Amino acid sequence: MRPPWRMVKKLLLFVLFFSYAIANSQINSYQNAVVSSANELASEVGIKILKSGGNAIDAAVGTAFALAVVYPQAGNLGGGGFIVLRSEKGFETSIDFRETAPLLSSKNMYLDNNGNVIPELSTTGQLASGIPGSVAGLLYALEKYGTKSREEILSYAIELAEKGFLINQELANSINHHRSDFNQFTSSFQIFGRKFKNADLFKQTDLANTLKEISSKGRDGFYKGVVADKIVAEMKNGNGIISLRDLEKYQPVERKVIKGTYRGYDLITMGPPSSGGTCLIYLLNILENFDLKSLGKGSVPFVNVLAEAMKRVYSDRSEFMGDKDFYNMPVDKLISKSYAKERFSNFTLGETIPSDGIKPGNADKESPQTTHLSVADSKGNMVSLTTTLNDVFGSKVVVDGAGFLLNNEMDDFSVKPGVPNIYGLVGNEANAIAPGKRMLSSMTPAIILKDNKPFLVIGSPGGGKIITAVLQSVINIIDFEMSAEDAVDAPRFHHQWLPDLLQLENSYASNMQIRELKEIGYSIKIISDFARVEAIKYNPDGTLSGHSDRRGSGKALGF
Ligand code: DON
Repeated sequence: MRPPWRMVKKLLLFVLFFSYAIANSQINSYQNAVVSSANELASEVGIKILKSGGNAIDAAVGTAFALAVVYPQAGNLGGGGFIVLRSEKGFETSIDFRETAPLLSSKNMYLDNNGNVIPELSTTGQLASGIPGSVAGLLYALEKYGTKSREEILSYAIELAEKGFLINQELANSINHHRSDFNQFTSSFQIFGRKFKNADLFKQTDLANTLKEISSKGRDGFYKGVVADKIVAEMKNGNGIISLRDLEKYQPVERKVIKGTYRGYDLITMGPPSSGGTCLIYLLNILENFDLKSLGKGSVPFVNVLAEAMKRVYSDRSEFMGDKDFYNMPVDKLISKSYAKERFSNFTLGETIPSDGIKPGNADKESPQTTHLSVADSKGNMVSLTTTLNDVFGSKVVVDGAGFLLNNEMDDFSVKPGVPNIYGLVGNEANAIAPGKRMLSSMTPAIILKDNKPFLVIGSPGGGKIITAVLQSVINIIDFEMSAEDAVDAPRFHHQWLPDLLQLENSYASNMQIRELKEIGYSIKIISDFARVEAIKYNPDGTLSGHSDRRGSGKALGF
């Protein structure tokens, strides 16, 4: 008997649906390990290292060096960053390789005789750079917590620089967009001055040689010898002040992580000189006192609570936060549950307290100029690493003959009390410039545990918006039980106290909600997408899901 046609059709549909569902459930979900970064080629390097037996630190360091080649907007040798790591045995630590102010720097170095900020001095050109920390920090991490040789880990980046790689549309656009900036510096023009298009082969011979120096000599291949000489010579091409002594003296610092809890989850994150971890814990401590789920994700009361929390936290950031080695930043108080309660005791639902007192800054600027990578290996080691040149392509200065860009991280200091930096963030004495001091950061590499087991590895670029992007992704996962992908891709908003603006991604709120928020008293600004979160989530079935923010062109890979 022939089966009725309708039944065959139903059966076929059934089979199709289930194969689709199975395939889909496996998207971004892996049994062993995940690397999530802002560039697929860099994530591939991390995966190769893991597959050849390396651990999460080996992979993170290899990926970071690869990003210095394939993602020069933010990946770097000439910048700095932070690593938060947790080992399979539960050991937790952080490595601070933030840039430092040169020995010849001084508090008012970016001001004219009348005490006014000289435009662009802290953002473009040789004088904008702090002492690069990335090479020292990455090698420190590799030597202490990795398993593979420096030569092996660097070989991937060397190959990408020497043989070249096909650039993607994002990089082509980004370089072309900044051509006039590069044209100010002969060395930068030589490398980035031509017009690029998608799939152009990009070889970087000078950079490959610098990487080889590092590969064979370790940190001395960068902070001493030919590369150091080239950095100092580059200073003389402009008004730079980095000296051989600065380079020789630079040291990464291994620091205790700072910790918090949120609804029974444990948070491990970066302390000073980043404000990121402190602000994240402080924000979560405030929010823990509210049932966000019943307020409703994205509802007006939800935005009201979060925005008021953000305002209080960012105002404290501007006053109290800086390099703890130079200024007594009251971290313990800022991350205590009692302080969060006290600070939010004047909050009334449906009301806003306007931010006032300091001149509002320009909060418009943000582009993918920092980069985050998250790695989780099959043994349970987790690495959360954020690194930056500060602005896109940093100071725009390539070290002549060495092929890498220098940061413009000096702008992260408060160059004058109350004057906003490029992210519109203001600061004070706590974050004033001093020789050897680290400028305050917002980078927020974080690891979250549930019942003392790995749960989330997360972080992001985004200037002052890093903290609120990480915050909302975490809340989406913990409070709203969203997948890593949905949590990271969901629209976000931001408030940083000054300027007194509630900044909503254009898809965040309906017209009606915007009207209601205005009625409460918020000044609203609709902004384009911000931050590019890289997250890895451990699923209850033991698999790992990785996701690279839809806002960027990165990729989470796994196996
Ligand atoms: O350390 C900081 O907070 C900034 N220099 C980070 C810059 C950044 O995230 C730019 N990316 N969009």
